[in-house]
Amino acid sequence: MEKLPHDLLGAIDALRKERNAVILAHYYQDPDIQDIADFIGDSLQLARAAQKTTADVILFCGVHFMAETAKILNPDRIVIIPDLAAGCSLADACPAPALAKMKAKLPDHKVVSYINCSAEVKALSDVICTSSNAERVIRSFPDDQPILFAPDRNLGAWLNKRTGRQMALWPGTCIVHETFSERKLIELLSRHPAAKVIAHPECEPTLLEQAHFVGSTSALLEFVKTDSASTFIVATEPGILHQMKKAAPTKELLPLPGTDENCACNECPHMRRNTLEKMYLALRDLKPRLEMSEPLRLAALAPLERMMGLG
Ligand code: 13P
Ligand code: SF4
Repeated sequence: MEKLPHDLLGAIDALRKERNAVILAHYYQDPDIQDIADFIGDSLQLARAAQKTTADVILFCGVHFMAETAKILNPDRIVIIPDLAAGCSLADACPAPALAKMKAKLPDHKVVSYINCSAEVKALSDVICTSSNAERVIRSFPDDQPILFAPDRNLGAWLNKRTGRQMALWPGTCIVHETFSERKLIELLSRHPAAKVIAHPECEPTLLEQAHFVGSTSALLEFVKTDSASTFIVATEPGILHQMKKAAPTKELLPLPGTDENCACNECPHMRRNTLEKMYLALRDLKPRLEMSEPLRLAALAPLERMMGLG
């Protein structure tokens, strides 16, 4: 068992300075991780922050594909993650060889991949998108350009609805967002009829149909800050509530539970693998590191840069 310093927050801060490290954290991280981070954001904002940093070390508190993206964009920095096993069900649902087979069957299709995928899947893609810019990325193609969208079928179906397209969809889902219960939503709405329902586009279509607003984590946060409603039912990972409470302390925030009220299944088990203890050890030992071959990095970089170029 590792001996850890008594003042973990102080020790992380000292190591951050010593290593010239920047701590980036996703909105789904535990509040104590968000509070010690240098920058908190959604996946697009974090990719941009990783691209811009002048720090020698990036400690990425999020999941594997996010830290991997930081490495693809910033090969000269050391990128570390508190727990290398922090994966993502969407990335796991789309192995690159299987996507390559589907792509071969649809040779006239452009491949647009949601950033929640492996570097190998990015390398097979024409362009990447995040939940913040997905609609803009899809609209950047001519109307008659067939598209294969991977790996989230719910985000893909939502984009088809928004744009009137009929993209071919890879059948992946997020284990967290598919668990939100429509029945629980109806129960909550009957008790809070004036509440606005806000949802991440990874939720199932039947749930998105009930939402007053659908958007990425940063868009949901902005909506809570600026909308006139005083109560919001939040259909995404409840880690985001920490920043919502800070930004709008007078508003009532009701996290939507999953189907089974007795489990914490609306929490992302991958995001929650990261802890302050593991952050300390990662900064101390400069591992686990994100590494990849240069040919793979360059192949994954091209579609990411196309996304970044779209603004
Ligand atoms: P954002 O793009 O909103 O950060 O979402 C990432 C994610 O993994 C949602 O489950
Ligand atoms: Fe992946 Fe879902 Fe976790 Fe987001 S919430 S990182 S999509 S498993």
